Amino acid sequence: MKEQIAKIKAEALSALEKAADSAALDELRVKYLGKKGELTAVLKQMGSLSAEERPKMGQLVNEVKASLEAAVEAQSKKLEAAALEHRLKKEALDVTVPGKVPVMGHKHPMYIALDEIKEIFIGMGFTVLDGPEIELGELNFDRLNAEPGHPSRDWSDTFYFDTDERVMLRSQTSPMQVRAMDSMELPIRIIAPGRVYRKDEVDATHSPMFHQVEGMVIDKNVTMADLKGTLNLLAEELFGKGTVTRFRPHHFPFTEPSCEMDVQCHKCGGVGCPTCKGEGWIELLGAGMIHPRVLEMAGIDPNEWSGWAFGMGLERTAMRRFKIADLRLIFENDVRFLEQF
Ligand code: DAH
Repeated sequence: MKEQIAKIKAEALSALEKAADSAALDELRVKYLGKKGELTAVLKQMGSLSAEERPKMGQLVNEVKASLEAAVEAQSKKLEAAALEHRLKKEALDVTVPGKVPVMGHKHPMYIALDEIKEIFIGMGFTVLDGPEIELGELNFDRLNAEPGHPSRDWSDTFYFDTDERVMLRSQTSPMQVRAMDSMELPIRIIAPGRVYRKDEVDATHSPMFHQVEGMVIDKNVTMADLKGTLNLLAEELFGKGTVTRFRPHHFPFTEPSCEMDVQCHKCGGVGCPTCKGEGWIELLGAGMIHPRVLEMAGIDPNEWSGWAFGMGLERTAMRRFKIADLRLIFENDVRFLEQF
């Protein structure tokens, strides 16, 4: 029996040492130490031993058991360490490999122009307002003195939501004048940039959705000279010192008198070229002195207060600012185009 035990021990120790993974190790543990294992089988034969030999043999079996258990434990630690080593090698991070440079975007040219405009007006004490693109016909037209039947109210120009023409996609940012008058304390100095909508086909200068920046001042003793001074400053800040402007008479329902402001063509200096379509001038915005009726409708006394307002197309301004020839480039988001700015 002693030899049998010694043989089991030698065999087991050598097998355990060679166990290549934890599954194999477990299999060996069961084979030698399990309930139906080889050592247990030996213990079961103890009945045939003499009373004197039995405890000695029992002790021997226990010693072998302990040493096999220790061997299992040792091998298990060894396998774990090897597995860890393997994982560390496999997952090693080579910090010397050059990194991937993320592609950084940047502001859209139209928003670069808008930020410049905002900065110019904020510098003069204006507040920037944001307003709804879904607007009441009342604010877009009536409160701006556009009478029923005014051509701008036509269904061929305007996106209405209902046949009563009560709700619409705003066709201009001018209703922000009314919203400002209704909600702010006098005096008022605001600009209000945002999207506007008109039923236009897309071409090099038109889009059914475009952006405007509205501006308005209401204070005491405000005159057309203030309007011209402020807008001339805007033109110089945007397009460079010495930019020449001109004011032409025009008509808008909500201003009296009304005008349009042109800037002299930066390309030809006023002589006439393809950029200005031979005109020498490029139209920039509509403006005027706020109509007394518009003030009255907002509950502001036109004998006490006066004001001026303007509305400029943002795409157009950006196109002039960055010498972009086609409006569609602003919306197409072709990165080859956008990367230039
Ligand atoms: N809302 C006008 C348009 O879309 C532009 C405009 C003209 C705005 C004169 C004004 C203004 O505030 O005073 O054509």
